[in-house]
This record gives sequence, C-alpha cells and structure tokens, in this order.
Amino acid sequence: MKYHHLCNPLFKYIRKAKHMKYTMKKKVKSSSSTIEYPPCPHSILPSKLLREFIHNPIKTLMDIAYAYSDIAHFKFGRQHVYLINNPHYIEDILIRNYKNFIKSKGLQVSKRLLGEGLVTSEGEYHDRQRRLIQPAFHPSEIKRYGDIMTTSAVQMIQKWQDGMMLDIHKEMMHVTMTIISKAVLGSDIKSEGDEVGDSLLTCMEYINRLQMPFGELIEKIPILPINKGYQSAKKRLDSIVYDMIRAHRDSESKGVLQPDLLYTLLEAQDTEAGIGRMTDLQLKDQVMTIFLAGHETTSNALTWTFYLLSQNPTIGDRMYDELQSVLGESESSGNGRTPTVRDIPKLVYTEKVLRESMRLYPPAWTIGRQAINDYKVDKYVIPAGSIILMSQYVMHHNENYYSDPDVFYPDRWTKEAKLHMPRFSYFPFGGGIRSCVGEPFAWLEGILLLATICKQWKMHHDPNHKVELKPLITLRPKYGMRMKLERRRS
Ligand code: HEM
Repeated sequence: MKYHHLCNPLFKYIRKAKHMKYTMKKKVKSSSSTIEYPPCPHSILPSKLLREFIHNPIKTLMDIAYAYSDIAHFKFGRQHVYLINNPHYIEDILIRNYKNFIKSKGLQVSKRLLGEGLVTSEGEYHDRQRRLIQPAFHPSEIKRYGDIMTTSAVQMIQKWQDGMMLDIHKEMMHVTMTIISKAVLGSDIKSEGDEVGDSLLTCMEYINRLQMPFGELIEKIPILPINKGYQSAKKRLDSIVYDMIRAHRDSESKGVLQPDLLYTLLEAQDTEAGIGRMTDLQLKDQVMTIFLAGHETTSNALTWTFYLLSQNPTIGDRMYDELQSVLGESESSGNGRTPTVRDIPKLVYTEKVLRESMRLYPPAWTIGRQAINDYKVDKYVIPAGSIILMSQYVMHHNENYYSDPDVFYPDRWTKEAKLHMPRFSYFPFGGGIRSCVGEPFAWLEGILLLATICKQWKMHHDPNHKVELKPLITLRPKYGMRMKLERRRS
C-alpha cells in the first residue's frame, strides 16, 4: 500500500512541464573558444528566470530539470549557471574532481560569523581541519551523546499536554539547539545554554536575511536594530565560547577529563600528517560552525517527518508498533521506556521513515560549487567561474530513480534498493571531503528523538495552517508547523 503526501501543488505543474521539452543548443563565441552550452530555458528572459528563481527556487529548478534532464545551462545576469541532475556527474564533481571546485561566493556572509570553520574554509586549510575534526564525529564517539539527546527530548515532552496546539518546528529548533550546545560544551551548562540558544537564533536569522535578495543593503545601515542585535548576540556568543575554551584548557592542565565535543576538539591533533592542536581562534570558529550546522537541519528533518506522519497515520501507527515492540510497555505509565543508543539497530522502520522523509524534504536542499578551471561534463565544457547547482530536492524527486517520487513510502528503502541505487541519487548529507561531518550525529539524534516523542505522542496537523516550503540555506516550513498533540495510550 502506498501513501500520498499532498502538500505540494507544484508537482502537477511540473509533470506537465516535462512534456514541454525544449531542445535548443546554443553555440556562443567566448573570448577563448567556441563554447557549446547544454540545453537551456531559452524561452524565458534571463531577468524573468532570476525573478522566478528568487520567488520560488525549488519550482524553478524542478521545471528546468524536468525539461532538460541531466544537465541544463542558464544565466543569472552575466553569471553562467549549470544545473546538474545526474548522480554520476554529481559523484564526479563532489568526489573525483572536488579539487576543481570551491564553494560559491555566498559564503563570505557566513564567514563573518563562522570565520574559517569547516563550512566556510576552502582548499588545503579546510582539508587539514577536516582531518583533525572528523574522528570526533565517528559513530563510536557520537554514541556518548545519546543520553543528552533523549534527556533533552524527555524534558521537552514533559511540558506538553493532551490536546495542546503548538508550532512543532519551534519546539524542534529549541530541543536540537539544547542538544548541540550540551554536546559541545558539556551537559552541565544551564543558563549559558539558554543564552547560546537565543544568541544563535539572532545570528542565524541575520545571516539568512543577508543572503536574501538585496540583503547586503541591511549591513550598510548600521543603526538598524537588526544590525545592533546581531553585533551584541555575536559578541555574547564569542565570549561564552572563549570562556568555555579557557575553562576546558584549565581542566585539561589539571588532568580532568570532560566528556564533551569541545574537549575532544581541543585534544585533537594528527602527528602523522603534521597537524598540530587548534588555537583558541580555530576552536572558536569550529564550535560556532558546529552550533550552526548542527541543529537547524536536524530540526527541519524532524518537523517534516512529523508532518508526513500526520498525513499518513497508517505509517505512524506502524512505526508506533515497532516502538512498542522494541521499547515495551512499562507498568507505571503504560508507554514503555526511553530509547537508548543500543536500541538503534532494532528501530529499522523508524530509520526508514526518517530516510524517506529526508528524500521528500531534504533539509539541505541544494549544493552549490564554482568551477576553478574549465570542466568537462558529458560533451560539454563548463567554463571556469561557472556556478554549478546540484539539488537534493530535485534529484530525490526524479522518477528515473524513484517510482511514484511524490509518495511517502518508507518501505521503498529495502537493502537491495539501497545497494543498487546510484550513490548520488540520494544525498541529503552531500558527499566527498565536504560531506556532512555530523551525519552520524544527525542519524542518532533523528532516530532517538522520533522514537522518544512518537512513543508517547501522536500529532495532527492543523488543517487551517498553510504548509509551504521556505528554501533558505535549509528547507524550512515557511509558516512553521502547527500540530495538535494527542497522548498515546497503549
Ligand atoms: C539532518 C541533518 C543534517 C543534514 C541534512 C546535513 C546536511 C549537510 C550537507 C548537505 C553538507 C554539505 C554541504 C556542501 O557540500 O556544500 C553538510 C556539511 C556540514 N555539516 Fe551537516 N547536516 C545535518 C546535520 C549536521 C549536524 C548534526 C552537524 C554537527 C553536529 C553538522 C555539521 C556539518 C558541518 C561541520 C559541515 C561542513 C563539512 C565540511 O565542509 O567539511 N551537520 N551538512
């Protein structure tokens, strides 16, 4: 049996667009040679296309991909842009030829907050830092944060009441923020934890605003309250993180071990590769990066999962059955024990639900790169300086790889299917040297939170609440996600 998710009316339109395939090829004389460009939306004026993209980037890319398939070319002003929609080409770009690409210029804005952290640094410096940090995110290391995850989730749901209506997106943002700050700085941070959360939210909103069309104008007017708010939040955040680094270094010199991520990063070094320990500034940049990269994506993934479960109650019930059988029923509450890391291998269907949800609503919906040198794809040469877009959202809805791509169908994720699918037909965490270093953390957190919450609560989406995509850096629900809570009684 299959289940339809109905949130997105754009799909019907897209299927139609598929039949309007244009096949024009352009040959343009560049300063150095004649370049053959792949097919492009020639019927749309460049400025109209840009306007459409700003208004609805996902729909614009879906339309282009359905019309032109594996590779399409268009221009935003003078900037050449290529949309790559073939898993093998994506693998070549992200893995085999990654050295020929940098992240695009939009990162300059984020650099003001994140400095030279993993997300914003490039080249040799990035690769060395990555080598240093990666072991701290190994699944065996990440396990130790399982208790922080479930305890934070339990504290959240203890405040919920039967019949309550709440914005589940806000709840998820708050709980994932609590989890990441405790995992990084230590679970005993209390008042600082709230301050970190509030300051991070202010900084994140600001960076998001700056990256919107004409956002750069905001910075040019320093007296705007939003600029002042950002400056003071950033100052507060920097000072908390530096204080924590000092305190951790003190503990280390006294031989006191702290079981948190900051301590692991502080100790990290790679003598084999000649990479020494990080300075305070490097540590601060990495901590800020992990704070920022480490919660919004997971909170979006959970929010969209709750939405899909509310639209497909049979799937929700099946997941609940699995939770009942793995976690049992306690005599006192009748709703079983809290899950632990050891339960993860048994939560097979819960994992499929999360995987399928990240297919339909990939929390990071597109990856952008800029070519350093000319780059050959198929029979085309992509000129140096071109922007390359590889969209998880577009690929995950590609019917060449997914039958009924718009349907929420966790059972499609059989072992065989995973084995035979091209690697980059599903890439919510990217790939290669710049893939998500926090992927093991995200899976553990996602499954543990789903299990902890769904064991006790069922959610009903408020039918008067509008669901729309808001694709910023991550894929948020534009108007939050209003849900009515129902306590599960076994
Ligand atoms: C569902 C949750 C998450 C998703 C879908 C996700 C997705 C991604 C993607 C697609 C990238 C690569 C971007 C690119 O290639 O341009 C990335 C990078 C990154 N992610 Fe995640 N992420 C998630 C959770 C996390 C968590 C929990 C952490 C940390 C605890 C984290 C830390 C990072 C960092 C530091 C990078 C930069 C890696 C580098 O450039 O070397 N992410 N993430």
